[in-house]
Parts: sequence; C-alpha cells; structure tokens
Amino acid sequence: REQRLKRQFEALEQANTFFQQQLRQSPERERAVNYLKQRGLSGQIAAAFGIGYAPPGWDNLMNHFSAVDNATELLEQSGMVIHNEEKASHYDRFRDRIMFPIRDVRGRVLGFGGRVLGDDKPKYLNSPETPTFHKGRELYGLYEARQHSNHLDRLLIVEGYMDVVSLAQHGIHWSVATLGTATTAQHLERLFKLVPEVIFCFDGDQAGRTAALRALHTTLPVIKDGQEARFLFLPDGEDPDTLVRQEGEAAFSERVTQALPLSEFFFKSLTEDADLSSMDGRARFSNTALPLIQSMQPGLLKQMMMDRICEITGLSLEQLGSVIDLHQVTQP
Ligand code: CTP
Ligand code: MN
Ligand code: MN
Ligand code: MN
Ligand code: MN
Repeated sequence: REQRLKRQFEALEQANTFFQQQLRQSPERERAVNYLKQRGLSGQIAAAFGIGYAPPGWDNLMNHFSAVDNATELLEQSGMVIHNEEKASHYDRFRDRIMFPIRDVRGRVLGFGGRVLGDDKPKYLNSPETPTFHKGRELYGLYEARQHSNHLDRLLIVEGYMDVVSLAQHGIHWSVATLGTATTAQHLERLFKLVPEVIFCFDGDQAGRTAALRALHTTLPVIKDGQEARFLFLPDGEDPDTLVRQEGEAAFSERVTQALPLSEFFFKSLTEDADLSSMDGRARFSNTALPLIQSMQPGLLKQMMMDRICEITGLSLEQLGSVIDLHQVTQP
C-alpha cells in the first residue's frame, strides 16, 4: 500500500511537470499563455503556483506515460484518467484546460483543478477524491503561502483558484481556497494551528453570502480565545480576483482591515430580520442565538456574546439559565 501511494505521488508530480511543459511546448500553447496573460498573470506567478496546460486530445497524458509500467491503472487511481466501462476504454480526464496543481503543505501534488479557456461547462474540473486527496482537508495555496513567508499572521479564505493566484500576483501572498466545497471544521482546525486570524472573503453574490453564513456556523464551535475570525464582504458582482485587479493591493488590504469580526457578523446576521423593538421579537431572536453561542468553546468571547443576549433581553444570566439550560455557558 505504501508503495502504491508513493507511485501515485510520483505520477501526479510527473503529470504536473508534463502540464507545465505543455504550456511552453504544446502547439496550442499560445491560446493557453494568452489566456493567463489576459487574466493578468505573469510567468513568474504562474511558475510559483506550478500552473500548466493540458492540451486538447483524449490521450496526451496517457501517451506521456507510455514507458511506465501499468500506467493506465496508475493514472486512473490517481484520478487523471477515466475508465469508460461501456467502451472498455480509458481517456484523459483533463483536456484543453489550464491546470492548477493542488499541493499539500509538504509540496506534494495531490490533484488538480482544471479551467476551460473559454465559457464551456463545467468551468472547473477537479480531481476526484483519491486515497491521497481529500477535499474537505486540503486548501489550495497553503503550500505557496508558506513558501512565500515562514511567518504568516493571518490567512484570507477565498473561493477560487484564480482568487488565490491573482491576489498573489498583486502582492497578497496569504490567501487559500477551499476546493469547490464549503469550509469544514477540519479546514479551520488546520488553519488555526498555523495562524491566529482567518478572514473569510467569498464572492459578492448570493452563493458567497450563503457560504459566509455557513462558515460562521462552522467557526462558532471551533474558535478559541486568542483566535480571530472575520468576514469580508465584497461589492456585488466582484470576487477577490476582479477586485484586486481593479483597485490594487493597497485598497484591497484596506478592505481587509475593515472586515467584520465574527461577533459582529453573528449579531448582524441574526438581527437582520428580527424585530428587537418588541418583547416577542427579542425572545425569538434569543432563542435562535443562544444555542449557537452555547455551541462555542468556553472563554471570554463566548461570555461576552452571552452578555450581549442579556443586554438585548434585559435578563440576567441566572434568569436566562432558569429558562434554558445554560450550564455549559456559565462554566469557566
Ligand atoms: N468550482 C468548481 N466547479 C465549477 C465551478 C466552480 O469546482 N464548475 C469551484 C472552483 O474551485 C472555483 C470556485 O468554485 O474556483 C469558485 O467558483 P466561481 O466563483 O464560479 O469561479 P471563479 O473562481 O471566480 O472562476 P474564474 O474567475 O476563473 O471564472
Ligand atoms: Mn481501468
Ligand atoms: Mn461565485
Ligand atoms: Mn473569478
Ligand atoms: Mn468567483
């Protein structure tokens, strides 16, 4: 088994080298290079992220591996080749796509995200879950961020590959992306081991706002005193890539400093459609808020958020406790 995983890592590394070569050598390289240029990326940043190109065609990668024993099986296990059962044939998963290698913290390639050069669907294709690749755990750009600086103070969590790369292009080398999935508790636990502060910065659209709310709910039970989570909301229609390209590093960084602290986003989102002017509204609001606060780790932030509920309801902790089971909350 160990041997098999080792071969898979080697195959993924070799595939990555192949895709990077293709960006220089493929007959289609001009389209690919132009695409990257048009998105504002320099050769230097593309190289730092190991960005490559999978040329059109069904078997470029398989052919590149033709000298390797059991190459088809190896590539299939690595998620690079698809087995068509009906036709009893195999073909390259990634064709005519810009390739973003997803690396673990040690720099090993685990899989890829591949983007079409135009408007075809699906826009992004990702490696499937394999024995070496678990999407709920990995963060795109974490290896590169740590390569750039061995002392990170904070990390920006964004949605997409291009957001991470484009931010780096503009001097912001401290962002990571979840891999087309929601932020998981596992992601957050990993991040908080590395940095005391994370800032969620999702796209300025409905999906991005929903993702922020979900991230809030995932963060509440995980975060401890000494750690900070904040939420940065972007103007409608923008994502970190489009915005940093438009306004540059300084203006974008200024936005980061204005990001909402977790507690503020919590109360803002919960009071948005609550009527705190009526007793009934305050009771209803507190009913929603209390269990969420109770899910938090014991500590100062939790206590202060409880105090806020006391202010809103006008009840003391003891009075709240006589109605709702708060023993978790009041314990130090
Ligand atoms: N995603 C995916 N599959 C898709 C669409 C999106 O896996 N069909 C993931 C990708 O990781 C993508 C992220 O979700 O980067 C965010 O999606 P979206 O905002 O639509 O794409 P962008 O990253 O903004 O892509 P681009 O700027 O290249 O158009
Ligand atoms: Mn097969
Ligand atoms: Mn989006
Ligand atoms: Mn984008
Ligand atoms: Mn986007």
